[in-house]
Amino acid sequence: MSTIILGIESSCDDTSAAIIRNGVVLSNIIANQEVHKFYGGVVPELASRSHQQNIVPVVELAIKKAGISKKQISAVAFTQGPGLLGSLLVGSSFAKGFSLSLNVPLIAVNHLQAHILAHFIKENQQDNFQPKFPFLCLLVSGGHTQIVIVKDFLNMESIGTTIDDAAGEAFDKCGKIIGLEYPAGPTIDKLAKSADENKFQFTKPKVSGYNYSFSGLKTAFLYFIRDQLKISPDFIKNNKADLCASIQKTIVEILMQKLIKASDDTGIKEIAVAGGVAANSRLSEALTNQAKIKNWNVYIPNKIFTTDNAAMIAISAYYKYLNKQFSNQTITPKAKMFIDTGL
Ligand code: KG4
Ligand code: ZN
Repeated sequence: MSTIILGIESSCDDTSAAIIRNGVVLSNIIANQEVHKFYGGVVPELASRSHQQNIVPVVELAIKKAGISKKQISAVAFTQGPGLLGSLLVGSSFAKGFSLSLNVPLIAVNHLQAHILAHFIKENQQDNFQPKFPFLCLLVSGGHTQIVIVKDFLNMESIGTTIDDAAGEAFDKCGKIIGLEYPAGPTIDKLAKSADENKFQFTKPKVSGYNYSFSGLKTAFLYFIRDQLKISPDFIKNNKADLCASIQKTIVEILMQKLIKASDDTGIKEIAVAGGVAANSRLSEALTNQAKIKNWNVYIPNKIFTTDNAAMIAISAYYKYLNKQFSNQTITPKAKMFIDTGL
């Protein structure tokens, strides 16, 4: 028997739909919303309007590309939260209506858990490269930065979190200061490749336990740039790549420091990374280096499954489907949700 899940993701500025059959991804369509670039960040009202325009064609394409018919779908899954309420409403309303019309179960998925469960998306039947439980997952996205002990598919414990900005936010805000378009993370990664990461030094925050903080770094970066511009108006232009490399190195070192501490303290050597910032090449390099020193097994998802995508929603729903964790039509989206309880 095949279990075929349609997953829908609409928590922020990407409208995505994916089909997964028995854990293997058949299609994963993502419509990015270009409209926000002009504003330097996501505009919630514009995001929900774009979702409304995109959702029908994106779902249709996902079904078509998967080579299945609507009637074969076993369940419809959607992102319940956390995210922008207006955006979440579009996906959840569509999923409710679609599950009702197909007469199949509806499954609500926690976006944060889904980023982590992206590690279990199989690209083909033979794909078995997956972390073993329990593993530590560094979840780093535009909205979240957490260290999570993943005990089972739906049993997770967050042991550290950011007390202010997320790591992706630090990339985006520092990028904005030097004139880069939103989201700046991928551009910083690219520009940093051939630059000197030791040219500029920034102090790292002192935060207790496994917690993080990035707002001080952003402010320090802002003041540093402001002071340098007073001396030389061309400072950014002349140092752009080195600034990118230096700030990227600092962010990665901050992330790694607490991850190493968590691994040392818990003795867990299965180390995974998830969320948009997991696509960062300097972070991958740091993880690979530590793997050699600390004897870690490191897991980095395929880039397409690190940023927001519906395949991660569908895979999470697949494990909920096996446990018969269904939702009813009265379920509502939530702007805030937690990893430990899934609620
Ligand atoms: O997971 P995601 O797609 O959305 C959220 O749930 O937040 O993450 C988006 C974040 C943005 O802040 C973006 O700048 C960052 O991930 N990002 C990167 C890279 N690719 C995406 N940051 C650094 N290096 C990258 N290569
Ligand atoms: Zn996300």
